[in-house]
Amino acid sequence: MNAIRTIKVLGRWSLNRLQGKRMPLIAVFSMTHYCNYYCAMCPFGDPDKDAQMRLAMHRDLSTEQWMHIMSKVAPYVIWSIVEGGEPTSRKDILELLEHLKGLGLPVTMITNGSLLHTLDLDRLKHCVDYICLSIDSLRQESYCKIRGVKPEIFKRVMSNLMLLKDHNIKHYINSVITKWNAEEFITQEYFDIAKNLGIKTVSMTFVEDRADVNYSLLPDRSTMVKVCNSILDYMERYDEPFILIPPLYWEQIIEYGRVLFDECGVWKSIFVNADGTVMVPCWKYKDNAYNLLEHDVEYVWSREEWAEVKHCRECDVLACIWYSSQSPTVLANGYMRGIRMLIRKHLG
Ligand SMILES: C[S@@+](CC[C@H](N)C(=O)[O-])C[C@H]1O[C@@H](n2cnc3c(N)ncnc32)[C@H](O)[C@@H]1O
Repeated sequence: MNAIRTIKVLGRWSLNRLQGKRMPLIAVFSMTHYCNYYCAMCPFGDPDKDAQMRLAMHRDLSTEQWMHIMSKVAPYVIWSIVEGGEPTSRKDILELLEHLKGLGLPVTMITNGSLLHTLDLDRLKHCVDYICLSIDSLRQESYCKIRGVKPEIFKRVMSNLMLLKDHNIKHYINSVITKWNAEEFITQEYFDIAKNLGIKTVSMTFVEDRADVNYSLLPDRSTMVKVCNSILDYMERYDEPFILIPPLYWEQIIEYGRVLFDECGVWKSIFVNADGTVMVPCWKYKDNAYNLLEHDVEYVWSREEWAEVKHCRECDVLACIWYSSQSPTVLANGYMRGIRMLIRKHLG
């Protein structure tokens, strides 16, 4: 059922492309302005949690508004990503995930994992395809430094990771590589611990430095090269844990210190903020927002402003932008890499 839906949506999208029309293919729903974490690399890490909570209470979409927007977006896309803020901090998160599933959309929820034990996991299992657990470091000390939380929270996240396993909920972990955890990738300890924990898939990306702060968390150039070489080495030697970000991303960073692409593909995702707005062409254009409560997807995607980022190269290492900006050949290679891994695993 889902495969037929995906083929239909992809077919329509390809026809639009042939006519030079930009349309989204992936939906990202940023469910709330609130996050219970303090990550230095993330704007949602704002330490003034009272103000953030007030903002969430005043500006977050209601359950009905989110359902309305999700229904509006669903016909255009083949996958949905639910994140935030911290999506699990919303009381209605399961209801909203169920709504998305009911629309026939595959769902990945990105979460810090600290509140998963408060959810009905048997219900969660039926309304997500994957949980992406953000675990930047598998060492308690570095994790707490990057995420600005106490050791008890790290322990809670690790025990919630085990809950996902116990409930057979498909999951992978994601790390943002900063100068505070780069060493763990150079020594490959991150992968070894992940493997010992029974984690089958990991994803990681270098931190994209924020423009609104006066510090950088990116490791220096020579450390970045060491990280990339080590990740490439691990990929070549081991199938597990499977590393989602393909070799080309790491190779480009070794060679150029950043990633390359011809045209920014930010328009391939529809990124809906917690108040229903979409910033066009991207989050750097805060004053140019259209609210999906008022406008249709077609109207927003036909704006001329999208052309403004065509030649923008401001995102140095952001993996999601890199991926959406790659040619169909690179994407097909990535797909085949996944299939090859699955075949190797099943044939022993
Ligand atoms: C904004 S968070 C929201 C979801 C949830 N609160 C969490 O921590 O997973 C979504 C993802 O973006 C990643 N992220 C945050 N800031 C980033 C940055 N500056 N560069 C790259 N990834 C970042 C997080 O680690 C997380 O995996």
